[in-house]
This record gives sequence, C-alpha cells and structure tokens, in this order.
Amino acid sequence: MRVLVIGSGGREHALVWALARSSGVTAVIGAPGNGGIAEQARCVRADVGNPRELADVAEAEGAALTFVGPELPLVNGVADEFARRGLKIVGPDARAARLEGSKAFAKEFMARHGIPTARFAICASAAEARRLIASGRFGFPLVIKADGLAAGKGVSLAHTSREAEETIERFMVQKVLGPAGERVVLEEHLTGRECSFFVFTDGEFVLPLPPAQDYKRAHDGDHGPNTGGMGAISAPHLLDAAARERILREIVEPTIRAAAREGFPYRGILYVGLMLTREGPRVLEYNVRLGDPEAQAILPRLESDLLEIGDALVTGSLSRVRPRWSADATVCVVLASGGYPGSYHTGYPIQGLEEARRREGVLIFHAGTTRAPDGSFHTAGGRVLNVVARGRTVVEARERAYAAASLIAFERMHYRRDIGAEWSS
Ligand code: AMP
Ligand code: GLY
Repeated sequence: MRVLVIGSGGREHALVWALARSSGVTAVIGAPGNGGIAEQARCVRADVGNPRELADVAEAEGAALTFVGPELPLVNGVADEFARRGLKIVGPDARAARLEGSKAFAKEFMARHGIPTARFAICASAAEARRLIASGRFGFPLVIKADGLAAGKGVSLAHTSREAEETIERFMVQKVLGPAGERVVLEEHLTGRECSFFVFTDGEFVLPLPPAQDYKRAHDGDHGPNTGGMGAISAPHLLDAAARERILREIVEPTIRAAAREGFPYRGILYVGLMLTREGPRVLEYNVRLGDPEAQAILPRLESDLLEIGDALVTGSLSRVRPRWSADATVCVVLASGGYPGSYHTGYPIQGLEEARRREGVLIFHAGTTRAPDGSFHTAGGRVLNVVARGRTVVEARERAYAAASLIAFERMHYRRDIGAEWSS
C-alpha cells in the first residue's frame, strides 16, 4: 500500500518512520516533507493549506491512505475534500476540526457538555474584553487566548490588568494575529502538571495512546517565550491507571459522544491538552492531530503496525485492533536555531548526524532541514532536529538523548538541558 504523510516537521518524520516499518507499506510519500523525510519517502511539493492540491497529490501518487500531521489542512477541510473524492484519510472533517480551529467554539462545546475546563468568557470586542478585565472576574494571572489558529502565538498570560489590556490591544485593535484575534477567550489560570493525552477514534471506539509531556518554553526551568515545543517525554508512569480512566471517562468519551450527537462525528486523532489540577484533570485545549514534539516521543514506543491502526480507523473497525506499546521511556530533545521562537537564520551545515544516529537507542527525526545532492544536511527552520532516545527509565533515555545531542552541531544551535529532568530523581 502507498501511504501519504502531509506536513514537513519532526512529527511527520516520526509518522513516516513508523509507517516505513509496516510490512503493508510499499512506499511512503511526503507532502511536502523535509530533508530527513526525503531519506525514507518520496517528497512531493504541496501547499499544506490547500485541500484540493493535497487530494491531487494523493490521487497522482496512488496513496491508499493519508496521515495528516498539522492542523491547518484539517481546519481547511482536507478530510472533506478527500471524502468527496473517495480517498481515505486519518483526520477529522472541517466541522470536527473546529475543536482546534476556534477556541471559543471548543469552550462553548465543553460548557454545553459539562466537560471540565477552566472557567471562561468569550469577548467579541475590545470594549467587552476591557470590561471583563476591569471586573476582575477570573483574577490574576489571567489567561487570554485568541480564538483562531495562531501558530502557538495566540495564548498570553497577564499578571496585571495593564498587561491584560496590552494583550487585548495587540490581538483585537492592532490585530497582530489577523482574523484569529477577532474574538478572544479570557479564562482563569489553572495550576498543576500538564499532560498531553491522545486517542485514535473512529467516531465510536476510542483507543488511547501513551501519555506524553511537552516542554513549551524556550529555556530551562520553563523560562522564556512559548515555542511550538522544545522537547517531550513519554513514559508509562506519567499517568497512573486511575488518572487515565478518569480522563477517558470524564473528558475523552463525553467529547466523542457529544461531537456525534451534535452532528460532527469525530474520526481521527484527538489530542487533549490537560492540566492535572488538584481538583482533577481540566482541558486546556483540544487539538485535532498528534502533538509536535509529543509524536516523536510516543511513536517510537509503538510495537504494532501504524498502518493497521490507520486503516481500522478509517473503516470503522478500530475496536478490533489492540496495539502494543513498549514499557520503555522516551525523551525527545529539540535542537533549535539561534533566535527561535523569534527570528533566526537558516542554511547552516549540520555536523555529527551520523555519529548521533549510531548511538544505542537513539533516533534522529528532522524538523527543519534540507538535504543537499551530496547527502549533507542544512538547517531550514526554527526547530531543526529531534533527538529521541529510548531507555528502561527516563534517566537512561535522558542520558542517551543528551549524549547523542552533544555530538550534533550547527551554527547557533540551542536546546534545553532539562527535558525529563523532574522525572529523574
Ligand atoms: P493552549 O494553546 O490553549 O494549550 O495554551 C498554550 C499553553 O498555555 C498551555 O500549554 C498552557 O501551558 C498554557 N495555558 C493555557 N490555558 C491555561 C490555563 N487556563 N491555565 C494555565 N495555563 C494555561
Ligand atoms: N506540542 C504542542 C502541539 O503540538 O500543539
């Protein structure tokens, strides 16, 4: 079977790697892919925001099944376009993808169905937002979220009403995020440990993946600006059985049932971003896809066939598959360009990849690279490489990941040194 993977980052490289291991896969196609993906897949140029172009690629390449990495194609209706043409794709349609595409929609959905989340209000004008800030209803710090897709730049934490008003000014008056900031969600600040929880679902049956933890801030100790994710870990003990059951019973299953009841059955991968508060798990956000870099930590633990899971998902027979996951821990360290998540330069040669890749238990996924005709790699993005290591424990996986990362070099490379550190004592 020929399989297409949409996207160009580390998550997509992990998907390509997992699919290439499947005995049922004869070829993987990446649209558009990246330098690392090009070693395992045929890469075809495509605009990931354009559903028709993506369906054209699937048809031209004879893809029997397509996996989608990022949210943009899903929110833009790639699954709808594929369905119209009778093409199989793992991912929700545009109506279901509103759970990620509009934070206001997601919050109202949760409120309608009693799904636990932070208390909130939706503001359609700057005046309304300012009134709410002045009322002090949710206290400080106050979380302010742009409604629409904002590539990780749409969430702001305000410690004072002045900071909150500045954010409203930027989002709603200066419109720095464009239409994404036309409405905002104001919500109470939750505290606890964050956890990324994923399930495969065919609209009825739910198949959980192992949990992961994402490290969103740029610098050690959770300092610095928010990024797409500077690292992730996955390990069985991130959630105990009781917490996992509670998340499924109070959050995931009600979400899937309510989506079907509201007329948009959810088929694909659902990502629930959670805060594990003292009162129980609360939804921070829904995403309609795998996380990046969580996927790079989770997929290496999959001991079953990803193609089989994807195929069962699109044919509505997910209840028949029982994937096996290794009990290992994984640690994924993101090697980023100097300046990221702000502006950065690209085009620097990368050294040490071969040596790093040969280390025991280590996988290198490419997030933003290009491959030159001579086989050498150059930086081509903010997040450049993901160094993933497996181990029996987080401690062992961490040691392996950082030993491998230290072999890699490119101009102005930076990475966090504390991925998984709090699980290591
Ligand atoms: P989101 O894109 O909604 O997941 O928000 C990005 C990040 O902001 C989350 O991963 C959390 O670290 C933080 N965040 C979002 N909402 C809240 C909240 N209500 N309380 C505390 N932190 C939050
Ligand atoms: N790692 C966070 C995300 O993929 O949205």
